[in-house]
Amino acid sequence: MAGSSFGTIFKVTTWGESHGSAIGAVVDGVPAGLDLDRSDIQPFLDRRRPGRNRFATQRQEADQVEILSGTFEGRTTGTPVSLLVRNTDQRSHDYSQIASCYRPGHADYTFDRKYGFRDYRGGGRSSGRETIGRTAAGAIASKILSSMGVEIHAFVSSVGPVAMTKAARELGPEDFRLASLSALAMPDPEAEKQAAAFLDECIRSGDSAGGTVTCIAANLPAGLGEPVFDKLDALLGHALFSIGAVKAVEIGSGVSAASMTGSEHNDTWRMSEDGKAERAGNCAGGVLGGISDGSLLQIRVSFKPTPSISKPQQTLFSDGHIGEIRIAGRHDPFIPARAAVVVESMTAITLLDLMMQNMTSRMDSLLRFYGQS
Ligand SMILES: Cc1cc2nc3c(=O)[nH]c(=O)nc-3n(C[C@H](O)[C@H](O)[C@H](O)COP(=O)(O)O)c2cc1C
Repeated sequence: MAGSSFGTIFKVTTWGESHGSAIGAVVDGVPAGLDLDRSDIQPFLDRRRPGRNRFATQRQEADQVEILSGTFEGRTTGTPVSLLVRNTDQRSHDYSQIASCYRPGHADYTFDRKYGFRDYRGGGRSSGRETIGRTAAGAIASKILSSMGVEIHAFVSSVGPVAMTKAARELGPEDFRLASLSALAMPDPEAEKQAAAFLDECIRSGDSAGGTVTCIAANLPAGLGEPVFDKLDALLGHALFSIGAVKAVEIGSGVSAASMTGSEHNDTWRMSEDGKAERAGNCAGGVLGGISDGSLLQIRVSFKPTPSISKPQQTLFSDGHIGEIRIAGRHDPFIPARAAVVVESMTAITLLDLMMQNMTSRMDSLLRFYGQS
């Protein structure tokens, strides 16, 4: 299967299936000399771990990460970092019913058409469990970015029709603390209460719900992004659309830009009270011409409702007949709460890779690094 790697210098390859013996990633391009042990990675995996509350699949996995290579005496050596998480709570028999039919909304039909057969146990490689490897890799990218002052936060900003009211740019450390404690990864307790009631109703009726994850990156330098095919927004789109169930990625004003005028949308300049040139707004979301402009990077990612629902549905069977399916197995009634950290991780991987690439974009950077002859 091609397509399992992402990144140019900081390069992540994920491997493994939902019901295989283990799942993980190989991260090439991690600079030597980074202090790294399990405790840097585990908190990221804990944020996406299943079975933590009623809004997540009840599959019970500890998701403990092992670092198999690339470190010596607690520091990276510059060689590939191999990360492994063992699968321990597979119940493959729950999936025997979908061996002969295709779940509406899932990847069963397309995998079969493409490869001629599929690992139907837990969705195989199309499972949300694939995101373990990229989340572990994202923890490493985030640690490196954080040492350079770049801070990334992702949180759930809407659940079905319930949206938080505070704007992303107004959020501070206390909001991010609230999101980290929230079962729905929401920084707004009032919206979370309404969202929980909405989700409880979905769960009761054997259904699922979609929602959005907002991600912001603060203290980014200007100049990240490689025109023309590797623009910052193009690579973020690539990174974030590669997460299962993502149906839209918006930067800044996103789709609402289409209904605005130029004078509404342009982020005009002004002089701040302390004499710094700044923008009056951030419709651009921190990206102009595919290059970061040094302001807050603002991304919104829309997730569809989980395809596997227990409500009876009509579907296609592999022998060609249409019949009823009631999907068994344990599934997330709502994906974004577990996927927020995946969005954060893919954003971190993309930004770090572009920071590394940007080191060669100017003569003065090269001369600063190698010195003048
Ligand atoms: C963190 C995460 C958890 C997911 N959990 C489930 C799940 O429990 N059941 C399910 O049917 N799909 C789940 N998905 C979504 C499927 O992986 C996805 O819908 C499927 O691969 C089809 O791809 P597409 O929706 O991008 O077209 C999850 C996705 C993510 C990112």
